[in-house]
Amino acid sequence: MRKNKLTIVFWAVLFALASCTTTKKIGSNYPVSLKTAFKNQFLVGAAVNAQQIEQKDTAANRLISTHFNAVTPENIMKAEWIHPAWGTYNFTLADKLVAYANTNGLKINAHTLIWHSQLPAFMRGMHNPDSVRMYFEGHINTVASRYDGKVYSWDVVNEALNEDGTMRKSIFLQNLGEDYVVEAFRLAQQAAPHTKLYYNDYNIEQPLKRAGAIALIKKIQAAGVRIDGVGIQGHWSINHLPLKEIGQSIQAFAALGIEVMFTELDLTVLPNPEDLAGADVNQNTAYNERLNPYKNGLPDSVQTKLATAYADLFTLLLKYKGKVSRVTFWGVNDGQSWLNNWPARGRVNYPLLFDRAYNPKPAYYQVLKASKK
Ligand code: G3I
Repeated sequence: MRKNKLTIVFWAVLFALASCTTTKKIGSNYPVSLKTAFKNQFLVGAAVNAQQIEQKDTAANRLISTHFNAVTPENIMKAEWIHPAWGTYNFTLADKLVAYANTNGLKINAHTLIWHSQLPAFMRGMHNPDSVRMYFEGHINTVASRYDGKVYSWDVVNEALNEDGTMRKSIFLQNLGEDYVVEAFRLAQQAAPHTKLYYNDYNIEQPLKRAGAIALIKKIQAAGVRIDGVGIQGHWSINHLPLKEIGQSIQAFAALGIEVMFTELDLTVLPNPEDLAGADVNQNTAYNERLNPYKNGLPDSVQTKLATAYADLFTLLLKYKGKVSRVTFWGVNDGQSWLNNWPARGRVNYPLLFDRAYNPKPAYYQVLKASKK
């Protein structure tokens, strides 16, 4: 009897020791989470894909609930997915996202209502202004009102500008005229009175395009229409991180009395064709081996360069306390990143803080270190 008791105690002690070791291991991998590290500064978000929303990816789920307090659907709320045929909507995945976010304490930035890209097939090449207007009004009213109070914010209009700050000649501009952006915000404000409304674009930290964005935001404000913030996407490269322009842009946009966010952050480590900067999904390049130098692993020197770039960026963002309200990474880990397939398909890129096995990279630790400065 006494021997049995001793055996039980022995195994209990062994089990307790093993648990401690595991906790310590997890603890040393994750000294503190991203959302905790920046809790007094800004929300920390990630773009989530369909698999993650459907919780098919356990490792990703654990990582999301540990590190993030905001999510942006990477694709499933785009018009192509949510509005597949005229008058027909598919809300299945967006509804799942709302449930998933509620359970995990995540604020949803819904992405996106009006974007010239990823339009439903029935709208592509549409030249009839009446049909475009009917689509435009119906889409905003239906989708924005359904999720009012369920999502925290909307990217109401995405990527309306050219690099020189002029308006992109999109299907909306051509059929509805220059005021379509103001109209989109007006409709969104009516349909979603409890939801924050944002303008989102890439390269708007660059002076010319920034000036275009400022003019657009002022136009919305002058019309008496609500705009709550601006999203600088943040698809940059470790070789050209525009820190000076980022700082100037935070100040310039914040001076308009709106929130400033970094909404699609990733830093490519791969070489790209010279004329390519930003995130125009229609700019594609043919694959060649020279464009895919790290397919067997990232050299330490590049890993360090990535970590330093992230540290520099976060150190800068922390200087603007109260002005930057959210920083969202465009993906949870490197394996998920769109940059594996853009501008050339089938490359191996390493742009995020977590690697393909969901482990934190040196960049993760540098970002945490920056938060403690
Ligand atoms: O889901 C289909 C699948 O059924 C099909 O078999 C496969 C064949 O190509 O395509 C799959 O869809 C792809 C989708 O991503 C989901 O993986 C599309 O082809 C592909 O074009 C799409 O790319 C997305 C891209 O936007 C275009 O919508 C990227 O994941 C997404 O990261 C990217 O995100 C954009 C932001 O919305 C706006 N700013 C730039 C940013 C990066 O391009």
